[in-house]
Amino acid sequence: MNRDYFEMKAVSYEKDDNRVSNVASIANSIIQNLYLHKDMHLMDFGSGTGLLLERIAPLVRKITAVDVSKSMNNQLKQKQGRLGCELDILEVDLELDDVERKFDGIISSMTMHHVKDIGLMFEKFHKLLSDDGVIAISDLDSEDGNFHTEDTGVYHFGFNRDDISTAAKKANFRDVSIVNASIVKKPHGEYSVFLLTAKK
Ligand SMILES: C[S@@+](CC[C@H](N)C(=O)[O-])C[C@H]1O[C@@H](n2cnc3c(N)ncnc32)[C@H](O)[C@@H]1O
Repeated sequence: MNRDYFEMKAVSYEKDDNRVSNVASIANSIIQNLYLHKDMHLMDFGSGTGLLLERIAPLVRKITAVDVSKSMNNQLKQKQGRLGCELDILEVDLELDDVERKFDGIISSMTMHHVKDIGLMFEKFHKLLSDDGVIAISDLDSEDGNFHTEDTGVYHFGFNRDDISTAAKKANFRDVSIVNASIVKKPHGEYSVFLLTAKK
């Protein structure tokens, strides 16, 4: 099965100003809501071309980028060595495979709506974290189904905030909290984006 839904989009991915400013707002929200420091090793789940991690990099020691898409990873590779921290890139489908490492935190932007079973993914996040590890997961609020104009493997038209908080709590996360992170402006409407933070 070809899981590289972003093959045709990767090269031009960062040419969309609305996309870039959305991820910049998400990064700012993560910086405001998470205690980040230079000893931390983070995982960025669904790292894509690195729009999120490049903004977080100067604040941490290392980021492991996890993405199933070879074409998105190839774009990210071009940034290696120019980021504010050490970078590892793993070409992994995190729904199917495991990563044998522990992280101090997991960040993610605009990826959970591509994950079929978010309950299982939160359980995986929990296992991947060291004691007192944190998550900061950002994605769309429930939307009308018109956010995506192409099939990039979308399983959820955004999320109801109570439902995604409950999924995180069921996976044993504590101090689950949700804030507004961004608004994506598209020609046909505006789409709000949340940031969920929680502790192991
Ligand atoms: C919409 S893009 C977001 C990229 C980046 N986080 C950003 O905000 O610009 C979603 C990314 O998640 C990746 N992805 C989706 N499902 C995945 C999975 N199960 N395991 C790893 N990566 C996944 C896709 O390949 C894609 O690069």
